[in-house]
Amino acid sequence: ASSEQSQLISLYDQAAKLYTHVLLNTEMGQPALDYLHKRGLTDDIINKFQLGFAPGEQLLKEFFDEKKVDYQLLRRSGLFIEDQQGKLRDRFFGRVMYAIKNPQGHVIAFSGRVLNKADSQAKYINSPETKIFNKGNVLYNFDLARSAIRQEKRAILFEGFMDVIAAYQSGVMNGIASMGTSFTNEQIYLLQRTTAQLDICYDGDDPGQAAINRALDAFSANSRLQLSVIEVPNKLDPDEYVRQYGEKQFSEIVHSARLTPTAFKLDYLKRDFNLSNEADQLSYLEGALKEISKLTSSVEQDLYLNQLAKEFGVQVQDLRQQLRQVHSQQA
Ligand code: UTP
Ligand code: MN
Ligand code: MN
Ligand code: MN
Ligand code: MN
Repeated sequence: ASSEQSQLISLYDQAAKLYTHVLLNTEMGQPALDYLHKRGLTDDIINKFQLGFAPGEQLLKEFFDEKKVDYQLLRRSGLFIEDQQGKLRDRFFGRVMYAIKNPQGHVIAFSGRVLNKADSQAKYINSPETKIFNKGNVLYNFDLARSAIRQEKRAILFEGFMDVIAAYQSGVMNGIASMGTSFTNEQIYLLQRTTAQLDICYDGDDPGQAAINRALDAFSANSRLQLSVIEVPNKLDPDEYVRQYGEKQFSEIVHSARLTPTAFKLDYLKRDFNLSNEADQLSYLEGALKEISKLTSSVEQDLYLNQLAKEFGVQVQDLRQQLRQVHSQQA
């Protein structure tokens, strides 16, 4: 390996161990440890995911200075912020630290969460891109999840780190997350080499549902992955759901409440209409037929046509007739 890359990996490894040590074994880590315990995490899980705490001091700066680590290497590491005079100080302070790892399990970056969120602060801040970290290539937890993904023959995509961790605690170990919503070809390649099926389990709130809608379009355009959607009830995110309803119930919805992309889309489309009004019903049906027209299997088309017919009290033949018109308009 290039020496710069292995040197950076070594710095991140040392930083992660230090952050975890501070969290678990020191006075200054205590508020963060209490916070994570309150969120339901055990010390085992904290160790497994290499969670840590960056205190409000020059922890890393002093640690690496003592070890006489090269200034230029520290500059390029992304672990520090450089002031006008070229002086370095810790980038992360007062944050709970999530170790971001490559598929081999080496720490290559961090994401830090504020303990108590004030409006002015970003909830999470991430390491900048470096020689070892390209945000667009990362799948959080892929290193731990890979064998479970192979075994289950599917991966579950979550929005956040805490969702992945809460799922893992629930025995759902094939969870991953991206760091942001748009997916790169590298991430898709990594996934497709490991599985043919992806379940999307984003937050149950409105932004989460909108993100599912976008992700379905993006994955069907750019990947061969078979997609489904796991909806989390009551507008909760998966982590909140686990804490409110328990690990067992979460693992049950993961295994039983899978929607096809079309079923999700037909439901999602309803937001745009007031279905107690007939004009809106007709517009909805038009949009629904457009969605159904994208399906290549006529059996699948029939399934949804029959559902719509029942739901709106119309004849399935009429819907089929209108679907042919949608097709010819698109041709
Ligand atoms: P959420 O706002 O849903 O956060 O953002 P969360 O995962 O539920 O976090 P907790 O439970 O409050 O700790 C989902 C994901 O979006 C990214 C993070 O990866 C986060 O996990 N995000 C969010 C950021 O990168 N920056 C932010 O300021 C907020
Ligand atoms: Mn405690
Ligand atoms: Mn969210
Ligand atoms: Mn969330
Ligand atoms: Mn959350």
